[in-house]
Amino acid sequence: MKDDRGHWGSKIGFILAASGSAIGLGNIWRFPYITGENGGAAFVIVYLIFVLLLGLPYMLAEFSLGRAFQLNTVGSIDKITNKSAWRYVGILGIITSIGILSFYGVISGWTLAYVFKTLFTEGQVLINDFSNFVNNPYYEILLYAIFLIFTALIVYKGVEAGIEKWCKILMPILMVLLIALIIYANLLPNSELGLKFYLMPDFGKINFKTIVAALGQAFFSLSLGIGLMVTFGSYLPKSTNMFSSAIYIVFFDALIALLAGFIIFPALFSMGENPASGPSLVFIIFPKLFAQMPFGNIVGAFFFVLLSIAALTSTVSLLEVPVSYFVDEKKISRKKIVWIMTIVVFVIGLPSALSQGTIDFFTNFGFIPESLTSQDFLSQISFIFGDLLLTIGALFLSIFIGWIWGAQKAAEEIKISGGKFYKFEKIWIFLIKYIIPIIVVLILISIFKVTGIT
Ligand code: TRP
Repeated sequence: MKDDRGHWGSKIGFILAASGSAIGLGNIWRFPYITGENGGAAFVIVYLIFVLLLGLPYMLAEFSLGRAFQLNTVGSIDKITNKSAWRYVGILGIITSIGILSFYGVISGWTLAYVFKTLFTEGQVLINDFSNFVNNPYYEILLYAIFLIFTALIVYKGVEAGIEKWCKILMPILMVLLIALIIYANLLPNSELGLKFYLMPDFGKINFKTIVAALGQAFFSLSLGIGLMVTFGSYLPKSTNMFSSAIYIVFFDALIALLAGFIIFPALFSMGENPASGPSLVFIIFPKLFAQMPFGNIVGAFFFVLLSIAALTSTVSLLEVPVSYFVDEKKISRKKIVWIMTIVVFVIGLPSALSQGTIDFFTNFGFIPESLTSQDFLSQISFIFGDLLLTIGALFLSIFIGWIWGAQKAAEEIKISGGKFYKFEKIWIFLIKYIIPIIVVLILISIFKVTGIT
């Protein structure tokens, strides 16, 4: 069986594929708009603390579980507890990945649409185009479907041929373009107001919503909490240093998000826009930036092409979670399950596609209160799957790895080729067993109190 599953071609290939999963719309679309909604610099600091304290150690835990048993999350859990209720933690991850993919696919469709829009629409027209675009749902939904089909075609081909290849050239190019855009944006008049918003923390702005959002964003951006990194770890040979790999992945992921902020906030303040505009934020600011730039059409189209590919390497990883489960555990053929899942995801995502002003019912859908997230269906789904269920998944998986499998065993797996990991072993075990569960539980309890879900 194992030979059917495929392996990464090389350590760098694995790092690129895992970074490809982590780096995506979460960094360039979600991070800036959540930062904008949550008041800027203070949020960024809380986010970075969570990334280092919780995200990095937790990522290593997922890797070690996967590599130890060379199976998807449910399979690995079954090996340890023999079909106990713990396997539902793996199933929760599968449900969560389908939920995330549904709204993520919609935004990916927007990104694809903006490739053509920036290329062919005259700058000044494009600036006010976002609401026209989402109010013409046929075009929007068509691109959403096309994007999911691309995703399915790649997953269909299997892990190595599909995922690794795409990531190899993308990341460096994306970074160079982001840096060029940072320089441009920061030369605009009044851009320093944006830098101030982004870098000078006003700790009075930290409240409960900020902390919840920062925790969710940290796990979301690193593709954690659904067992995806367990699956990725399962394709690893024992010779790969997972410790240094995790550090690289976390570093690049946080770096790209921070770079995106250095473009968005200076540009935004220079244009006098509202940082708290929600999910549409980057689709308003970037086109405006390109509209005033020489060769803006070409630069803009190029930017959205790169962003589409970054999104594609993430959607591919999201689809891989349910697919690898059904292939490994239910022995359904990869070909069949890829298309079934794609159709399921497509249908679940439709309300999100119609929730940005197209259909009132979905635009003001909210049942999660405004004190936690915006009211449109997309934001709500993003909150439920991309913040809440993801965090719950991470909580249970860290308890499972820390206490049921045993943090010491997980540490032994990492140490097989762990480089300097032994120096951090004790801290790591402490974080996995105590700090991650306790912080996450405290935050979850407060969420349930606010929403009254209890
Ligand atoms: N991390 C990706 C991003 O930031 C999105 C993503 C891909 C993801 N796979 C995931 C989020 C798994 C959570 C879990 O764009």
